[in-house]
Formats: sequence, C-alpha cells, structure tokens
Amino acid sequence: MKALVLSGGKGTRLRPLTHTLPKQLLPVAGKPILHFVMEQIKDAGINDVGVVISPETGDSIRKNLEENPWQHNFTFIKQEVPLGLAHAVKVSREFLQDDPFLMYLGDNLIGGSIRSFVENFEKENLDATILLKKVADPREFGVAVVDQDGKVTRLVEKPKEPPSNLALVGVYIFNSAIHSVISDLRPSWRGELEITDAIQSLVGMNAKVKAQVLEKWWLDTGKKDDILEANRVVLDEFTYREVKGQVDESSTISGRVFIDSGAVIENSIVRGPSVIGKGVVIKNSYIGPFSSIANECHIENSSMECSVLLEKSRLIDVKGLDESLIGKNSLVTENRAIKKSIKMMVGDDAIIEL
Ligand code: G1P
Repeated sequence: MKALVLSGGKGTRLRPLTHTLPKQLLPVAGKPILHFVMEQIKDAGINDVGVVISPETGDSIRKNLEENPWQHNFTFIKQEVPLGLAHAVKVSREFLQDDPFLMYLGDNLIGGSIRSFVENFEKENLDATILLKKVADPREFGVAVVDQDGKVTRLVEKPKEPPSNLALVGVYIFNSAIHSVISDLRPSWRGELEITDAIQSLVGMNAKVKAQVLEKWWLDTGKKDDILEANRVVLDEFTYREVKGQVDESSTISGRVFIDSGAVIENSIVRGPSVIGKGVVIKNSYIGPFSSIANECHIENSSMECSVLLEKSRLIDVKGLDESLIGKNSLVTENRAIKKSIKMMVGDDAIIEL
C-alpha cells in the first residue's frame, strides 16, 4: 500500500501565520502537524509516500521533510491549481499506479493509530474505507450515513441539512476503482472535484465502501482555535518530562515539561504539559500549562499559558498572555511605563484582543 499526503492549500483561515508558513508545518506541541501524519503512516507500515504540494508552499514542505527520520520513500507531486481532493488524486495517478493507497490530509491530526483501519481494508477486501467522527455541527464537513454493519450508504459534502452527525475525517483508503469514478466526476458548486462525490459514485455502483468511527480525538487544524485546541490535546497526550537544558536553583519545573537542549531557565516557574524548544531563554517569568515555545524564543518578566510561540519570537514585560498564537520573529512587549499608549507593527490579517 502507498500513502498520499495532501499538503497543498493556502491556509487562508490561519492567516497571518500562513503568509510565511504552510499550514501543515505549523507546530503543535513543538512539532509540525505534518510530522505527526508521517509518524502515523510509518506506524501503519507504509513507506512509499506521495506528497501533493502547491506551487506556493511546495518548496518549504519539501525542505522540511528532507531530514526524513521516518525513512519514507518520498515522491513530490505538484498540483498546479487547487481544484479539490479528487483532483489531487488525479494528478497523482502516475505515482499511485493501480496500487491501493491511504490518503491523508496533511493538516489533520487524529489520536491513536491507523493500523486497524488499514488492516480492516485489507482483510475485508474493500474498495474504499473512510474514517468518521461524530461532530456537533456537521455542516462544515463531508457527512456520511452508515448502516449497522459499517457499510456506507450515502455521502454528501457540506450539507445544509446533514443526514447524520458523522463527519469525514481527512483519512481514506482506496483501491484503483476510485480512478475511473474520478475521471467521470463534475466539479461541485465550489468548483472542486470532491472526493466525497467520488466515494458517493462508488457507493452508487454497489462497491464495497465501509467506515470506521474514530473514538479518539480529531482535529482539523484549519482554524486558529483548532491549532490551540490541537496544542492542548497533543501536549496532554504526548508530553513527557525531560530536562535537557539548564534550570537554575531559583526556578521550579512542575509536571510533564520537555525542555530541549541549550534552553536556559532562570528564576522562573514552568508548569506542564509544556514544551520548550532548543536555545530558548526564560527569565523571571511564569510559563503555565499548555505552552509550546519554539526554538530560540526569549521570554523575560512575563507570564503566559495555553499559547503557541513560533521560532525566535520574544515576550518582554508581558503579563497574562493566554490563548494566543505568536508568529516567527515577533516581539510582544509592554511599553506603557513612559506613555499610556499602545504601539503596534502588525502584519496582515492579524487579530489583536486588548
Ligand atoms: C475536506 C473534505 C471534507 C472533510 C474535510 C475534513 O473539506 O472535502 O469532506 O470532512 O476536508 O477536514 P475542506 O477542508 O476542503 O473544506
């Protein structure tokens, strides 16, 4: 079996961070989302991985995966225009050949392993299988109806009146039957070739299409709140305590805190679950639970929690930073001692709540 990881898209909902960083590379619990996806693919025993990239962000995705600790056999496939998930499969035809493949949306994260999902597909000799998750508002997703045996009977993309509360998680497995239905597909109202419509065509042809309902968490990191939520959930599940950096005697580290090499903590309190990257400096500060601080950040006389700081950002004299995402190389500081005013240099699409 091969894997096809879709890593295109513009990430408009995550601007401004995605002006300079593809959404699949946004770190959650100190690691890019895409790396969690690659780990799960490895865990499922798959090594041939096609990565669909866009002209805008393709190079950074490729570069980011270069180190390749999973030892995957990567093939990069350029999708010149974002014409939908089924279109991504279409442009990957040469890589996929007629082999069965696991398709995984590179900005999605799920808890646990996908091994049993892959095993079931093989054991039951299915034409397609999809992963579903119960959600409160299914209207923003693809939605499926499933019978008692797990057979999919109907699918609809972003329905106004959802026929069930089961949303399609961005993880699917197909055999080669999907290619012929995709070649007959017409674009949807949003101008895209929808994979949901392609699977509906398979169902209409009486193909064997089954679903598994995910019990653990699923995060679709397309939105700001979801990145913070992903950060909380993933820190909670995966963080372990390890202190590689230097912590002085007047600091307290409590709970599951990972402090990477070269980090320096002075006269501060750090509470887990939290991840502190390489070369980070923290002085006279409080770092509360669910903080992800990327490499080379500098924090002084500040307090924060439940927030994500990207590389080389600085927090100086800031009290009570909460539920925030701070982009690379940013400086957040309080400067009101001299003049009761607020000074800002804010990038496009930023959100500031004072
Ligand atoms: C896509 C799929 C949808 C699925 C969702 C999961 O939606 O079309 O069926 O539920 O991913 O993230 P999109 O992100 O293109 O709106």
